[in-house]
Amino acid sequence: MLKDGYNREVNYLRVSVTERCNFRCQYCMPDKPFSWKPKENLLSFEELFLFIKAAMDEGITKVRITGGEPLLRADLDKFVAMIYNHNKEVDLALTTNGYLLKSVAKSLKDAGLKRLNISLDSLKPQIAKQIAQKDVLADVLEGIEEALKIGLKVKINMVPLKGINDDEIVDLLDFAKERGIEIRFIEYMENAMANSDIKGLLGKEILTMIKQKYKIKKIGREGSSPSFSYELEDGYRFGLIDPHKHDFCESCNRIRLTAEGFLIPCLYFDEAMSIKESVQNGDVEGAVEVLREVLQNKPEKNRWDESDNESSSRAFYETGG
Ligand code: 5AD
Ligand code: SF4
Repeated sequence: MLKDGYNREVNYLRVSVTERCNFRCQYCMPDKPFSWKPKENLLSFEELFLFIKAAMDEGITKVRITGGEPLLRADLDKFVAMIYNHNKEVDLALTTNGYLLKSVAKSLKDAGLKRLNISLDSLKPQIAKQIAQKDVLADVLEGIEEALKIGLKVKINMVPLKGINDDEIVDLLDFAKERGIEIRFIEYMENAMANSDIKGLLGKEILTMIKQKYKIKKIGREGSSPSFSYELEDGYRFGLIDPHKHDFCESCNRIRLTAEGFLIPCLYFDEAMSIKESVQNGDVEGAVEVLREVLQNKPEKNRWDESDNESSSRAFYETGG
């Protein structure tokens, strides 16, 4: 079992396989970053896996593949298979914008992927285009339907933005409810890379919109999830992720690995350590030592502050949110 310096059990590893993305979401990377990190800096799947395998042997039971947009990386199904074949009990999930999903969903499932989180911010083509700065909706919807058809477990993520898609909160809830899948509304997290004109909705504002149509009951957090569950009268459950409340750090169970091999103990925390040299030398023990040191340095609370660009400057697209 892995524990951090505050005695929290850490069993969840998020692995970003690329910082690159085919969307330019207003709340994430509206402008193409001045420069991408050179492709040579990326760890190969074999190198990433060497670390993941060791981390699984130490106590990681849940692995989520993120980006940027992870489906931009070729042969992702082979990477999924490496992780799954090491331990078939692993809770193996992927976060994607869904754009390239339709043609690869089946191969990912066959490789051992169990669950998918797909971002869907609007059901209106023009609004989806305004947010992602690309005409994406039709392909994303096809990706979602395909994933459901082949039996992958799907969750939808929506980031409500004032005056842009906040009139669609209930429509998206109904979209998910009709398909029997969970939707999670995520408060927009201010950060230095985002379009400075956009404003998010607070959790309570999101709930107010939903209450205009439905009666809702508070359920609670499931384990260490940052998502708080609510239930409608018919039993349908949705989630709300409200980082502005700053109350989920105490049960945090996760660490992050970037595509360049940096282990990051917390979303807003600059003290990252690299496992690159260790895995490139095949030094698994060295990588595990770095893991233990990063866990000791995991902060009690995140340093994200919505009013302070200094602490909010780490790009989401590097660490997969
Ligand atoms: N605030 C809130 N959520 C964000 N995401 C990306 N950037 C932000 C932000 N600034 C979400 C996306 C996606 C997930 C990976 O992270 O909507 O669902
Ligand atoms: Fe890409 Fe996701 Fe960022 Fe949008 S939020 S630009 S889809 S990484």
